[in-house]
Amino acid sequence: MKKTAIYPGTFDPITYGHLDIITRAIKIFDNIIIAVSSDNLNKKTIFSLKERIKLTQLATANIHNIKKIVGFNDLLANLAKKENTNILIRGVRTIFDFDYEIKLAAINKQIYPELDSIFLLSSQETSFISSSFVKEIAKYKGNVKPYLPKEIHLALLKKFQKTNIL
Ligand code: COA
Repeated sequence: MKKTAIYPGTFDPITYGHLDIITRAIKIFDNIIIAVSSDNLNKKTIFSLKERIKLTQLATANIHNIKKIVGFNDLLANLAKKENTNILIRGVRTIFDFDYEIKLAAINKQIYPELDSIFLLSSQETSFISSSFVKEIAKYKGNVKPYLPKEIHLALLKKFQKTNIL
């Protein structure tokens, strides 16, 4: 039976950090579902859910074995169950990420006991990237090229030209 894993995130926007995790996860599992979360209580996004899905599609267009990219407005554990997968992938950059991830994994397991979280350590080159840093640099017209695929870079610049966000 094929092993499908789910990789969730807010992806506001998707960065080389996320792509590092996706390309490595694909070598371990047969295919991956990328799950793009709707706005949550703690995060106000600059891209709409529809935009984040579109940008994630663009950034992963050349990666094989992505089963699908879905938007969700539900508990992650419920989505995993609905998608018939019991493997959740999360990237861990630092010890601080890990602390948060342990709690998230425990909550998810309470909701869906068959669900196991697998952690991949970010590669050294991407371990300092975060979507918030990237947005802040872009807002002040700094160079974000090293952190994002070209299409995402352009979309971010356009977003800041049009609006006065953050
Ligand atoms: N490389 C670089 N950056 C990375 C990264 C990596 N490998 N992995 C994560 N990040 C960054 C992201 O860019 C993001 O940066 P930001 O905070 O500056 O925007 C940050 O790390 C964490 O983002 P993300 O991976 O998107 O996780 P999250 O903490 O926003 O959680 C969900 C997203 C979807 C997992 C979570 O909100 C969720 O499960 N929501 C559904 C509701 C639910 O079930 N909640 C749990 C039970 S209460």
